[in-house]
Order: sequence, then structure tokens, then C-alpha cells
Amino acid sequence: MQQVRKAVIPAAGLGTRVLPASKAMPKEMLPIVDKPAIQYIVEEAVAAGITDILIITNRGKGIIEDHFDHNIELEQRLEAGGRTETLAQLQRINSLANISYIRQKETKGLGHAISCARSFVGDEPFAVLYGDDVIIGDDPACGQLCRAYEKYGLGVVGIKEVTVEQIQKYSSLAVEALGGNEYRVSDMVEKPTPDRILSLFSILGRCVLPPSIFEILEQTPPGAGGEIQLTDAMCTLARRDGMTGVDFTGIRYDMGNKLGILQATCEVALKHPEVGADFAAYLKELAKTL
Ligand code: UTP
Repeated sequence: MQQVRKAVIPAAGLGTRVLPASKAMPKEMLPIVDKPAIQYIVEEAVAAGITDILIITNRGKGIIEDHFDHNIELEQRLEAGGRTETLAQLQRINSLANISYIRQKETKGLGHAISCARSFVGDEPFAVLYGDDVIIGDDPACGQLCRAYEKYGLGVVGIKEVTVEQIQKYSSLAVEALGGNEYRVSDMVEKPTPDRILSLFSILGRCVLPPSIFEILEQTPPGAGGEIQLTDAMCTLARRDGMTGVDFTGIRYDMGNKLGILQATCEVALKHPEVGADFAAYLKELAKTL
């Protein structure tokens, strides 16, 4: 089975749930302690063996490109000041992977954003890492999905069980257990009403798709919210060929939602080598006043 070496990170959404923070600053650039969310995502892809990444942006998201590029003036200043550790940290960001960019000219939905990646992907399977979903764990979630693609040769979705309230805002999958954390997925529905819930398993933040998804996307009409939904295209794929669901390990933080941003900040800060101990002491004192 063909190895997955390309990834697409859609980051062209309007981020209306985290306004006004996302008015001039892409939500994908919101920091978790000292790194923007999208850097965690790029690092996860690289740790999973991905070598080529396409980030889908749009107007006003140019600072994502700046973040993964050299900043010569800053590098020279750090070098002159002997700040070699910080300099090495910055230079590592520039050389993480081959990163290219394309603009989604109109925000017509996640499915439409993915269709902008067609010429980058060519005839290969590719991973999709949603630009506002940070997953932190020892075994990169993207790598867990790539292994399942290489094992079964079918498209793969990262899945987790969520509550009845949450599933109505996400997608719901028809699943059959394959053993371990793997499932066969035969159907799915985006933002189901209570009578259309197939199971409490939902797609969260990651998938690996075969290139045939692009023909399906071409035929996919606008769905929920008038947008071209990637879930609708994956539903066609799942009904036609079947897909694999991987209940991935790792903690997922939804950076497209205010509570998700706070949870990510708190939990990552507590483990941070530089500020973790002081932050824990601060939180303990604060908790006494709640
Ligand atoms: P979301 O639906 O979470 O992002 O899409 P959104 O549209 O920005 O959310 P709202 O406005 O708060 O409801 C998941 C990922 O897909 C990207 C987003 O940037 C996000 O990373 N996306 C979404 C696109 O690239 N293009 C789109 O047209 C829609």
C-alpha cells in the first residue's frame, strides 16, 4: 500500500466562534503557551513521517506563511546576542517540512477547501489535519491514521465518542468494531438531528483520504450551512468503498472554540518545562478562591 507522505491543513475558515480574537488574527495562529496552534499541527504531521504539507489560507492569513519562514533580522539579532538556543528553536520552525500554500478564494466550506489541494495531492493518498484541532499525545494521531490507511487501503477518519449534545454539532458515524481501536465505517451524517444519530462516534480533526475524494467533491452539492461539506463527500466514499475509523490516542483541543483554547492553554502550561511549576502553584492558589 502506498505510503502517506503528503498532508493538507485547511486554515481558511472565518473563525466566527472565536471572534473578536480571530478578526485580524487567524484562529490557527492563536498561541498555546508559546507556540501557535498550527505549529503543533505541523509538528504532529512531521512526527508522523509527512514530508510535504499544503496549508490552505485566504486573505488575512499571510502571517501563517511568515511564521514558517525565516525572519533574517530577528535571527541576526539573536545570533549577535549569543542567544543560540532561541535561535535554534526559530530555525527549526523554518525547516520542519516542505510547506506550500494555496488560497481558498471564497470560504465555501471545508470540502471546498480540500478540493483546492487537488494539484498538490496528485495521485497519492493524503492526510488532512484540521487547522483548528490540536491533538497532543505520545503517538501522533496523524501517524495512527496513516498506519491504518497502509493496513486496510481505505480512507481513514480519526474518531472519538462524544455526548448526544456534541454530536449534533459534529458528525455521526455508523461503525462496526474491527478490534482494538479500529472500526469499519459504512455511513455518516453531518450535524444530525436527534432522530438521525447513527452512533456517538464523531470525526474529530484528522483523516487520511484517497485521491478519488476529489471526483466525489466535484459532485458534492452544498450541505449543512450552505457549505460544501467534507463529511458529505466522505459519506459517499464510506457508502461506496467503506472507510476505517481509528479511535486515536491523544488529547484533542478545539481551538475554534473559546473553552477549547482555555483548556489547551491550561493543560499545556502545566506540563511546560519553563513555566509549569509556577503555573501549577498559581492555579492551586487561585482554585482556593473559586
Ligand atoms: P470549522 O468549521 O471549524 O472552521 O472548520 P470555521 O468555518 O472557521 O468555524 P466557525 O466560523 O467558527 O464556525 C474546520 C477547519 O477547516 C478550515 C478552518 O480554518 C478550520 O481549520 N476551513 C473551514 C477552511 O479552510 N475553509 C472553509 O471554507 C471552512
